[in-house]
Amino acid sequence: MTKKSHPFTTILLQWFEENGRDLPWRKTRDPYAIWLSEIILQQTRIAQGTDYWLRFMHRWPTVEDLAAASEDEVMRMWQGLGYYSRARNLHAAAQQIATLGHFPDTIEEIKQLKGVGDYTAAAIGSIAFRLPAASVDGNFYRVLSRYFGIDTPINTTEGKKLFASLAEEYLPEDAPDLYNQAIMDFGAIQCTPLSPKCVICPLAETCVALRLGKTTEWPVKLNKLKVKERQLDLFYIRFNGQTTIHKRGSGDIWQGLWCVPEAEHLTDELKQNATLLRKGVKHVLTHRVLWSDFYLIDAKKQPLLPPDFIWIKTEEIESYGVPRLVELLLEAVATHP
Ligand code: ADE
Ligand code: SF4
Repeated sequence: MTKKSHPFTTILLQWFEENGRDLPWRKTRDPYAIWLSEIILQQTRIAQGTDYWLRFMHRWPTVEDLAAASEDEVMRMWQGLGYYSRARNLHAAAQQIATLGHFPDTIEEIKQLKGVGDYTAAAIGSIAFRLPAASVDGNFYRVLSRYFGIDTPINTTEGKKLFASLAEEYLPEDAPDLYNQAIMDFGAIQCTPLSPKCVICPLAETCVALRLGKTTEWPVKLNKLKVKERQLDLFYIRFNGQTTIHKRGSGDIWQGLWCVPEAEHLTDELKQNATLLRKGVKHVLTHRVLWSDFYLIDAKKQPLLPPDFIWIKTEEIESYGVPRLVELLLEAVATHP
């Protein structure tokens, strides 16, 4: 399959030739040196990372040297970079490579190295071996979403797939190394998150985001609030043709609605007489997911409950406002044999 060379790729590579950053690991094709730079740059800025990369290369010029080092010394050299699991993985991966006898040269094999995920494997593979893999990260998301005008959220399965396939589609087979590094630099210098320099951008004429005035609205990210989960078991009590409920107060869910007792309202003795009606009922609220087990208690004497609970005739509950979850409990009680 031959790939078309889209103006996007041509212009991007041209821009890189003129504006690419002069970084020391770009002067070599030694996979060890390139791998080392990618691990350091995973969570570190270029200026600080460069300093550490030079010191590591000076102390351990080859992967065999690093593999033979003591873990203590590797950790000491890493001091100040943070995320120390990277240093431990670095040392372990050096030993993996030394044992293998050569630096792995396929994406799949590179991914077997400790501390190397999809992005890093594509970066190393493309830069060291010109393997045709796109190193898709935030820079790719930003540049592609803006230039092509794509509003699919980047933090969804669909978005991740879409951007990965676009990144591969425009990858030039003869220069995957330049393409990936061009995006890294273009995203860092030109098409930056908050203030893209559109007035001096060589892609400006055909950039959808610029035309629509949406440069800083893209890429779109879904605001996924972390929903809290909560176990909330409900007990329907029958005593003498009556049942008991209370009105829920402020500072919690279902404020102002009426609800049957929860586990915390009941004595242990009472709970021992409970029959399980349904288990693991899931109920989704705006910022919370509730998991509930439903219980039925047939009490022989009037149970002791907190003072805000009232006793009503069982059929009267229909005239009280109850949450949907309590309605489900009432259905379960009604259909209980
Ligand atoms: N960030 C991660 N890898 C990089 C590289 N090779 N060059 C510049 N920035 C990077
Ligand atoms: Fe990014 Fe602006 Fe260039 Fe479009 S014109 S690619 S938004 S810098």
